[in-house]
Amino acid sequence: MKVVVTGGAGFIGSNFIRYMLAHYPQDEVINVDALTYAGNPENLADVESHPAYRFVKADIADRTAIEPLFAEGVDAVVNLAAESHVDRSIMQPDLFVRTNVLGTQTLLELSRQYGVRKFVQVSTDEVYGTLGDTGLFTEHTPLRPNSPYSASKAGADLLVRAYYETYGLPVNITRCSNNYGPYQFPEKLIPLMIHNALQDKPLPVYGDGLNVRDWLYVEDHCRALDLVLRQGRDGEVYNIGGHNERNNLQVVRTILAELNKPESLIRFVADRPGHDRRYAIDASKIRKELGWTPQYDYESGIRATIRWYRDHTEWMERVISGDYRQYMAKQYGDR
Ligand code: NAD
Ligand code: DAU
Repeated sequence: MKVVVTGGAGFIGSNFIRYMLAHYPQDEVINVDALTYAGNPENLADVESHPAYRFVKADIADRTAIEPLFAEGVDAVVNLAAESHVDRSIMQPDLFVRTNVLGTQTLLELSRQYGVRKFVQVSTDEVYGTLGDTGLFTEHTPLRPNSPYSASKAGADLLVRAYYETYGLPVNITRCSNNYGPYQFPEKLIPLMIHNALQDKPLPVYGDGLNVRDWLYVEDHCRALDLVLRQGRDGEVYNIGGHNERNNLQVVRTILAELNKPESLIRFVADRPGHDRRYAIDASKIRKELGWTPQYDYESGIRATIRWYRDHTEWMERVISGDYRQYMAKQYGDR
């Protein structure tokens, strides 16, 4: 099988490509990535000379740049390329529409024209909006996105659905909860807090810190994506999540404890506008239909992840050169 993986230089994409090459060395994997601030070829340094791996630097919204790849013949597309950070979407929503909506539509159109046999759209639980204190998101929960990021991902999901209904393109949509693990860009909660704690800098907690996320180790997400790619029923949506609900303060306190840093580093700062209160996933469909089960326990997985960042400070330092400092100043000011 020849698989185009978009966004493969990012957090989940690089973990997914490593997973694919380890489990299916006979398949060909082509990583299409524009290398935005979030794309880092170093995330795949250990596999870049693998004979089944190829990297193509291209923007998924640039049809001229990516059409030659489809013209070569492609069996499947796994679309992970996206602008992925909610706070950045509040600063620059147009970029999110361009990449997440137009980029996905460009890939769908080329997939239709060149007869791709499976298109997997890697979406997010955020398209469902927010939950109150109880309940879980199922695949039938209405889409009620609250941020420009989640609205752009929901827009993409609707186009994916339309390409299935209108043109019969064999598609799947996956909607996963928050991932944690190695190679995550340090604008996201867990690596940001680890980075700040290691430097004895304040840890900026939005609002009251009681917003809840449902955490999943990235490799468990990758295994689910692989199952959907190979066995997903065409046209179906699959939720992915591991029932690991934690509020942000709990996550931050675990990080401080693991790094032997004081809780006095915690700073409550202004809340994120439109901040979703709680996410929690009902993943019974993918468990029953495809036999997926998460293999990583949250308490040991999060501690191993904290230690990974502590032991890879040189990776962190290289990542945060670039536009990181400018973004952090805009987002957090001098705090
Ligand atoms: P990330 O920001 O770490 O990586 C995104 C990658 O996409 C980067 O390598 C970047 O260079 C690339 N990219 C951005 N714009 C591009 C463009 N126009 N053309 C080509 N490449 C482009 O993101 P992530 O956290 O790894 O998320 C990957 C996907 O999974 C996204 O679609 C996201 O919506 C989804 N998702 C993420 C999570 C999570 O917790 N991180 C959970 C559920 C779903
Ligand atoms: O649910 C899946 C989504 O998870 C993915 O679709 C997104 O791509 C991914 O970024 C993530 O979105 P979140 O907004 O949940 O993740 P983030 O790490 O930005 O924030 C997690 C929680 O931590 C959220 O409640 C906001 C809070 N937070 C975040 C930052 C960056 C803080 O309190 N302080 C911070 O500085």
